[in-house]
Parts: sequence; C-alpha cells; structure tokens
Amino acid sequence: MKTPGLSDPYPSIAMTAPLDPYRRRLISAAALAATGSALSAVGIPLAALAAGRASGAVTGFTALPVSTADAVSVAPGYQVSLLYAWGDPVSAGPQARADASDTASEQSQQAGMHHDGMHYFPFIENGRPSSAHGLLCVNHEYTDDGLLHVGGMANWNAAKVAKAKAAVGVSIIEIRRTKNGWQVVRPSSWARRITADTPCRIAGAARGHPAMRTAMDTRGEYVIGTLDNCAMGSTPWGTYLTCEENFNGYFKAGKTPSKDQQRYGLGEKTAGWRWHEVDERFDLTQHPNEANRFGWVVEIDPWRPDQAPVKRTALGRFKHEGATVTQAKDGRVVVYMGDDERFEYIYKFVSRDRYQGQAGNDLLNHGTLYVARFDDDGQGRWLPLVHGEKYAQGALSAEYGFADQGEVVIRCRQAADIAGATKMDRPEWIAVHPHTGEVYVTLTNNSQRDANAGHAPDHHVNAANPRAANMFGHIVRWRETGHDAAATQFTWDIFALAGDPQSADGGKQGNIKGDAYANPDGLWFDPAGRLWIQTDVSTNSLNQDGFTHFGNNQMLVADVHSGETHRFLTGPKGCELTGITATPDGRTLFVNIQHPGETGAGRSDPARPTAVSAWPANQFPQAVGGRPRSATLAITREDGKTLFA
Ligand code: FEO
Ligand code: CA
Ligand code: CA
Repeated sequence: MKTPGLSDPYPSIAMTAPLDPYRRRLISAAALAATGSALSAVGIPLAALAAGRASGAVTGFTALPVSTADAVSVAPGYQVSLLYAWGDPVSAGPQARADASDTASEQSQQAGMHHDGMHYFPFIENGRPSSAHGLLCVNHEYTDDGLLHVGGMANWNAAKVAKAKAAVGVSIIEIRRTKNGWQVVRPSSWARRITADTPCRIAGAARGHPAMRTAMDTRGEYVIGTLDNCAMGSTPWGTYLTCEENFNGYFKAGKTPSKDQQRYGLGEKTAGWRWHEVDERFDLTQHPNEANRFGWVVEIDPWRPDQAPVKRTALGRFKHEGATVTQAKDGRVVVYMGDDERFEYIYKFVSRDRYQGQAGNDLLNHGTLYVARFDDDGQGRWLPLVHGEKYAQGALSAEYGFADQGEVVIRCRQAADIAGATKMDRPEWIAVHPHTGEVYVTLTNNSQRDANAGHAPDHHVNAANPRAANMFGHIVRWRETGHDAAATQFTWDIFALAGDPQSADGGKQGNIKGDAYANPDGLWFDPAGRLWIQTDVSTNSLNQDGFTHFGNNQMLVADVHSGETHRFLTGPKGCELTGITATPDGRTLFVNIQHPGETGAGRSDPARPTAVSAWPANQFPQAVGGRPRSATLAITREDGKTLFA
C-alpha cells in the first residue's frame, strides 16, 4: 500500500482515469442485478400493494425458535457455510494465528474485525452478471482490543495501535462458488484491504475547506484512513459506499470541548480506542481539524484496486450508519442515510445530475442534502440543508456560523438542528422496497426518550417515536409524494413496534405479528420484496432483564403487506447480526456475524478469550480457533433453489 509522504502527499493518490465505457456498462448491469434492481422502484401505485399484487409474502420456511446456543442456526432446508472470518487472508497473505500474535502488517493482509455492512458485486461472465464469481466488499467496524492483541490492552503501545488501525476499514475479496461451496480466491489481483492507514481523497463541498486542512494536508484534499465502517450502500455505476459511524471514539478533545465538538460527542474522555496516546493526529488539542475529516460516506471502486477511496462530503458529516441508493423518476441519484445516535436525524441526498450510465465520478459531489421532519399527522417534509436557507430557528448563513456549504456539511447536525428536523430513536439501516419505492428505517432504541423530567420538548415522545424509554426499538416507513424519491414531502407510518408479547408491561409488548425481536438494526429487501431484519440487542442486555424472551441476536423475514414476521436465523453467543447481500440469482445469501463472544464490558479478557463464545471454530472445523471471530456466512437452500421464490 502506498502512503504518501508528508512532503508531497498528493501525487500518489491522484484520480486515476475513468473506466473504458464498455467495461463500465457491464459493471452497471452487474450492479443493477445485484441490488435487486431497486431502480425499478418508481411508479407502482400503492394500490397495487393493497391489492396484494406485489410479491413478498413470507413463505417457504419453518420459523426457528429463539436460541441461546453458541452456534448459528438457519431454518430447516437451508445450509450455512463459513466464508471469511477475522484473520483469514484477503489474498495470498498469512493465515491468522490462534493466539493473536499476528503483526500489524499481517493483520493488514487479513480480514479485519467486526464485520458489518457488505455487498456482492458480480463479475460479468458470458455476458451476464455471475452468481458464482464476484467481489465481496465487507466493512470492519471496530476492534475488540482484548482479543486483537496478545495481552489485550496491557502495555498499550504503537504496535498495538498499528494493528488496531489495520483491523478496521474494508475488505475487498474475490469469491467463487465451486463444487465444494463458496471459496475466497487466493491469490487475487482484485483483493485489497482498506484500513485506517489508507490514503483517501476528499471530494464535494468540504474539499479544500479551511476546516478540513491540517498540518499533514495543508490543502484539505486527502485523509489518511477510514474507520468505524458501519453499514454501506452500492451505486448503479458499480461502486461501494462505506460509512464512518462512531468516529468520535478515536479522538481526544481538550478539557473544555467546543460546542461543535460536543455536538459530535468529542470530549476529553471519549477517546476509548486510545490511538491518540501514540498518534498525535488523534489528539484534537494538537490537530483540531482532524476530526472534521471523519464521519463521512466513503466511495470505493472495487473494480479499480489502484484507486483511492473518496470521502463524499456533499452527503454530510455525522455518525453515518448506511447510505442506501435509489433513483428518482428523472434518473437523479438518491441516497438515504441515518445518523445513529439518540435524538439524531434521517437524511437524504438528491444528486444534481441524472445517472445515465456514466462512470458516476461526480454524481455524489453535487446535489441537495435534506433532513427529515416527521409530523404527528403522518405527513413529512424533507428540509434542505443548503447554505443561505432560512428557517424559523435561524438560517444556514454566516450569522449562524455557516460561512458556506462546506461548513453546512461539516457541521451537518447543527444545520439540521436549525432546520427543525425530527430527533429520532437512533436511525440505523434504511431499505427501499424494490417494487413500490416505500422506504423503511430501523430505529434501534432510545432509553433516554422522555426519560427525564425537564427534557427539551424535542426529546419528548412524538408520533414517529412514540414510546418513552424505548427499550426495544421500532421500524418506520414512508412513501415519497408521487412515488418519486426526489420528492420534498412524504407520508409515513410505523411498520412495527418491536417488543416482548409476554411482557407484563403493555407498553413493552410491541405489535409484531409472528416472531418477536428487539432492537432492529440491519435491514434489507430481497428482490421479491421481503424485508430481512437483523437485530442488535446490546451485549449488556442479551438474555437478561427484559430481554430473556428474545434469545441471541437473530435475523427474521417480514411480509411488509401483512406484517407477518418469521425467524430465519439465530446467531451465536454475544454476537449481533449485521450485513446482508445476495447473488443475482438469489441462490446465495451472505450474512455477517459481528462480535461473537462480546462481553458485557465490551472488551474481552485476553486471559479468557473464549469465556463467552468459541464460535466459529466450535461449529466449523476449518476455522482458526483460539478466540471468537466475526465472520461472513454463505447461506443456500439444500435443494439449490433461490431463497427468494
Ligand atoms: Fe454501527 Fe449503528 O451500528
Ligand atoms: Ca448497525
Ligand atoms: Ca446497532
């Protein structure tokens, strides 16, 4: 990997030439197939849904009971194999050692920790998107430093920080279905790791902005690294979007953080990852602008291993969960995004230009960023976050601290505050129905909603966030006016209130039809219009207190017309489910198990790495043991048919 020197950082990450049109067209076709052609979403009247003409009924499998076992279970008639676990080589590199004695350099050639969002990009073979050969992009969100290093965080030092930096980011692996099932292709000229050390370009409204300039990058044009890569998106032009979520945990602010720092959770004691102790770049008292360079959606072209990732700043800076792409009726690109923190917002970006089969290099640089207001009458509005815009509570102008659009996107949360957006219960994933264009968002929980007397009015319950001390979360959906993703108004309702039907407290029972779940997080529509729901009950709560009836974290399938919801998969101990994608033929579903074995403390005891879980080695003999490992699974039907018929 090339890291630019400080004296001349720019040439080595210069933009490479665009793809030749022929290959780009093939990739576009492949991307469409892989996304279930969400672009056909526009134009089907909702009446078609009501009449039951759209597909998506939950059929074809027997639902599982909840599980507390240290294993993955899938519904009868389906089979699961292990594809890619933390420490597996990306290409020809070394396999991880069971005792975690791998160096940072070795880790940079292996799967990172804490697999999260991912997407399958098919090769074109025989003129068609292949369902047997593709590139898989997998996010690695964060690290468990108790498992990552021999001795955990004891004797914390530069080598351990270097290894942690190499364990986050993204994997791009080449995979192929063989007669022995799915395999990672090794070696592969496509495979690479993107880490917290990978040079990234900055594009969009904040490129070159004074608030983006640092001692290392005096022009505000490039950043070393991407981190806390949570959920994702994919574009029609065949690129991957990886989203930087809880970046504040990597930066240490001074004793009295500024209001802007506080608004993003940056503080003196919030740098729990302790990178700042050995790398001054993460010490905001020395490099105050460095934190402005994280919290973005980052575009990666998996088909160009030589090309730097690009931070697309026009999409706003916040704790990005995912970036779900669809298209407006006129072909403009629309990206839906959640800011995952209590009382934060839902955003969408609408590109200025239409997608017409071009490479897409600039489509995410120019457009309008909006934030959502959910009114109590079931109506909603997209409020533009455009420099100069006036709102009742102020304006996005210099008078209110926004000198230009660059400042609007960098201080996106503050801009959304002025716009009067609705503070939500932790917006996580967003999914667009492939036939109707209806948009669904998981709101995973919010223990602080209306929890204290004296809260500001916008922290009270409202129609879209209707439960105080929301333990279990819910799923909201909306319909854009005119079925056009670029609309500025919408109508919304609540698809499901998660909960425990056995709870003695009526407010906690929820209204799920079918199998109960809590804390919905991952969310994805298959091409037939079934909604797949992945859960993230925190390790502090799993199988305890009010959560004893949910078992381990799980994945369910919902019929969005009837609401009927069935449990398809249960995960091992201490994990969350996050990350889901499929081959174009629907015969393979890829799913990620994140942080199996996580302890209530969040970090494992290095002396007892398998205290909670020994997965996946306890279920898959080929897995390296020694400690639990996040992993990508490949799920197929035993009869070989599509999962989505
Ligand atoms: Fe990374 Fe909000 O989950
Ligand atoms: Ca998540
Ligand atoms: Ca979560």
